Amino acid sequence: LKPESWFDQGAGPRYVQLRRRLEDAIQSGVLPPNSSLPPEREIAEITDMSRVTVRKAMQELVQQGAIEQRQGSGSFVRESTARVEQSLRHLTSFTEDMQERGMETTSKWLERGVFMPTEEEISVLGLGAEESVARIYRLREAGGQPMALERAALPLSILPNPLEVTSSLYATLGQIGHRPVRAVQKISALNLDSNDAKLLNVAEGTAGLRIQRVSFLEDGRVAELTRSLYRGDAYDFVAELQLSG
Ligand code: GLP
Repeated sequence: LKPESWFDQGAGPRYVQLRRRLEDAIQSGVLPPNSSLPPEREIAEITDMSRVTVRKAMQELVQQGAIEQRQGSGSFVRESTARVEQSLRHLTSFTEDMQERGMETTSKWLERGVFMPTEEEISVLGLGAEESVARIYRLREAGGQPMALERAALPLSILPNPLEVTSSLYATLGQIGHRPVRAVQKISALNLDSNDAKLLNVAEGTAGLRIQRVSFLEDGRVAELTRSLYRGDAYDFVAELQLSG
């Protein structure tokens, strides 16, 4: 990476020009994954920019997930996560989605058990008076990379023992004759807060997708209310559209 190639003649503030140059260098492989960037001070000297300007460019790259700052050892180009293209056509589970791509899945358990339901769980899951709720909260990983955080809530009549779920929720539901057959899914955007970002191994403020799924059994009973946070840099959701009428 030659210092003189760090600038384009284009318009815009200098930190934006520097950021774009670094982005190009990362995308074209001039700066490959895991390579280190020169210290801020050095970049400032070579480019004749103030350290504030350099820092601003670097901070944006951190926000975008292009580089990461490791305590005491400087900035490095991040290993880019392969994006997963996910169809919105079929009711599949995370495990099935990843298996189809030949990716190994693992889950870190953050919570699993039987709890007092919230008002929302009572109304969405149609729980009776005094009925408890099964909850499972997991960090879902594929190919060794964290992909999503998922909080699922199910009536005990659907999942009597949440401890039975050892890997795939839908596989366990299938075994006990409660595999969902239909779902309503809602997707919205958010910026990940520091806690969720840390679990997903991205910078705070990175774009994420909040996905809420309410799924149903064949007989119409509600099976689950799941709220997931997916990494925005790892997913493309695809739906086929047809002209109505
Ligand atoms: C997806 C859905 C969740 C569902 C999960 C089941 O991630 N968004 O609503 O609970 O799949 O996945 P698995 O069977 O791998 O636990």
